[in-house]
Amino acid sequence: MVDSFEKIPVKIFTTPKDGSEFAAREIGKLIRSKESKGEKCVLGLATGSTPISLYASLVRLHQEEGLSFKNVVTFNLDEYYPIEPEALQSYHNFMQRNLFSKVDIDPANINIPDGRVAKDKIKEYCQQYEQKIEAAGGIDLQVLGIGNNGHIGFNEPGSSRYSKTRLVTLDNSTRVANAREFQNISHVPRMAITMGISTIMNAKRIILMAWGLKANIVQKSVEGHVTEHIPASILQQHNDCTFIIDELAATELTRFKSPWLTGEITWTPQTIRKAVVHMALKLKKPVLSLTTNDYIDSGLGDLLTEFGDGYEINLQVYYQLRDSITGWPGGKPNAVIPNHPERSEPYPNLLSASR
Ligand code: PGA
Repeated sequence: MVDSFEKIPVKIFTTPKDGSEFAAREIGKLIRSKESKGEKCVLGLATGSTPISLYASLVRLHQEEGLSFKNVVTFNLDEYYPIEPEALQSYHNFMQRNLFSKVDIDPANINIPDGRVAKDKIKEYCQQYEQKIEAAGGIDLQVLGIGNNGHIGFNEPGSSRYSKTRLVTLDNSTRVANAREFQNISHVPRMAITMGISTIMNAKRIILMAWGLKANIVQKSVEGHVTEHIPASILQQHNDCTFIIDELAATELTRFKSPWLTGEITWTPQTIRKAVVHMALKLKKPVLSLTTNDYIDSGLGDLLTEFGDGYEINLQVYYQLRDSITGWPGGKPNAVIPNHPERSEPYPNLLSASR
């Protein structure tokens, strides 16, 4: 982990499939180690598009490597409200389809919030859900996804760090994001039952997975301040939480976006160009107008120490950019880029020469 920026350990994989395979193996190891001690393994499970490949990997471990779920107890994070368990979009249905019907788990060990509980009974029902988790010995490992607004479970921005399982109102952005599962947005339930943030934080270990276009919220959660406006940032305060993400979801992390700030960069013409262009865009200045002070103020003082004058670096970057301009997309094969500096004689004016 890069100490000063990432406050949660992050493991980056080339594809979601690779990340899911890693997470599945971690879960498999835990199930087996509990099994060898004659103990139950209590898993907190998530739904949504993110964990589908994780469940596919777990099913494969069951089918091909004999991983048994007989000693596994599960608690799902959330469920829409109101909803019938048989509804195509219910998380009951999702879990059956993607995992439970394909492994040897005892149905009596499966717990998913019930979207049918009468409104006046919900408070009591949610308290019982919490007590059931406690009675099972607490959650050994909680799997999470992350919403683009930073929600974990259905704990939308503003949820308290101390929240427990409860009925919540969904953010409009969540309803829009989940409309793909329904006919249209008007069919997306307005409420849900979700474990609270403190329920999640009480898990002994947490794995949050994020794939694809989640880079912004991943960066804020991992590198930003802890705030209830970004519920996932509260995971910084958990002592055994890992983010498992793919390369696309990692692109906004400082170690990729501005690696020179981490103190661990090897300077090459490409990384110098990236750093200088990044600085120019940030300061809204042309590359050739950057000053030595701009370099120092932007954390690029090391470049000056290594390569001397800021103006000379500006020029080298400018030449690199200039030489990348070509009528051939991707560059002309075998083209010889002319030497710098500029030719000393002006190019002949062909029009006047032909007269
Ligand atoms: P997704 O949702 O996996 O469908 O992207 C994640 C979440 O909202 O927690």
